[in-house]
Amino acid sequence: IFQQIHDRDVRPWLDLVDELRAHGISQDLPLPQIAVMGDQSCGKSSVLEAISGIPFPRGSGLVTRCATQLIMKSSPKGSPWKASASIPEQQQQQHGASSLWRKTKSSTSKTSADFPKGPRSASTPEELTKVIEDLQDALTAGDQGAFSTATISVQVQAPGLPDLTLIDLPGIVRTATKGQRTSVMAEVNGLIQRFLEQERTIILAVVPANQDVAPVDILERAKMVDPEGDRTIGVLTKPDLIGPGNEDEAAAVLKNVRKPLKLGYVMVKCRSQRDIDQGMDNKESLSSEAAFFRQQPVFKSLPSSFFGVPNLTRRLTDLLVGRIKAALPNIKWEIQTQLVKADAELKPMLKGVPHTTAECHTTLMKIVSDYCRLLRQSARGYYRDDVL
Ligand code: GDP
Ligand code: NA
Ligand code: MG
Repeated sequence: IFQQIHDRDVRPWLDLVDELRAHGISQDLPLPQIAVMGDQSCGKSSVLEAISGIPFPRGSGLVTRCATQLIMKSSPKGSPWKASASIPEQQQQQHGASSLWRKTKSSTSKTSADFPKGPRSASTPEELTKVIEDLQDALTAGDQGAFSTATISVQVQAPGLPDLTLIDLPGIVRTATKGQRTSVMAEVNGLIQRFLEQERTIILAVVPANQDVAPVDILERAKMVDPEGDRTIGVLTKPDLIGPGNEDEAAAVLKNVRKPLKLGYVMVKCRSQRDIDQGMDNKESLSSEAAFFRQQPVFKSLPSSFFGVPNLTRRLTDLLVGRIKAALPNIKWEIQTQLVKADAELKPMLKGVPHTTAECHTTLMKIVSDYCRLLRQSARGYYRDDVL
């Protein structure tokens, strides 16, 4: 089928990898993906929101309480906004989500039957935010300070959306807030580290532009796992908060001379808390962003491809699809190798496995009579279990 996919058509490539991931394959073999990382409150959720139009749960503290995979699909003009969210089944088993959910029964008056099994749909962005919060609650047993290592999968389809899949991670935690177990810090940082180390993960490092980039944690950590910078792209946020006279420093980062990354940097302006309080919506935010970069004396003289959410989105789609195309031959080979190995392990196990009802009877009778023989032998004092 690969030959049939048109080169410019990105959807089939993304679908293929999203489907492999939905089957739990990423546990055995790394898949190309983009993971959004950075300090708490650096603007990760704001960037995701600007790209997707979904008001992600945000604020201070550990608001993103588990990894959230966001699959965005563009649909034809005029089609309705559609979304669904779920915790993939193998994640529920692996992370014991349903038992956690049961524990919250008394405090939330929900029963284990309420644990969302299949995908839950939402028909507005606000509804989806609520569903995501519910799923996070389910995974963390309603404990607001806790977090989970499971991944929630969110699918959104709407006209004007990019074709792109991103993974939102909890922010790097440096200090546990009141009421939070201190172990949360180590757990979150361990989760981030696992994503960082996966060789096919593109690190979307979110860095506030109003801070010095030199000591930024995520850039340091990215450098440890990706010393050549082949899979790290930087996003500079909060350009409107840069102190007067400090724009040149941010410009040096953008021009990729200050803290160079092979994939470079993009600068975006998202909504501040005040913008949100004043009711600015996503569309207004995008035009406010465009106006800001058009007018800002230092930034307006730089190439326009350095700036804005639309440019970031395009770059990310190109990057992800490019990586998927490049990795697929190897992925196919790795899957085949693992399949051969699994088959070889399975073969001896299948020998003697009964299939028909009659065979089951025979097998059961044999087990019962072997058992009786063992009983008789042990009663006579010469028990041996190696004669079966
Ligand atoms: P996260 O913890 O990394 O997900 O960060 P959030 O997206 O929750 O953002 C933290 C705070 O920074 C929020 O109050 C945002 O409104 C604010 N913020 C994000 N981007 C910008 C920006 O470009 N400019 C300004 N002024 N504030 C921003
Ligand atoms: Na936050
Ligand atoms: Mg967040």
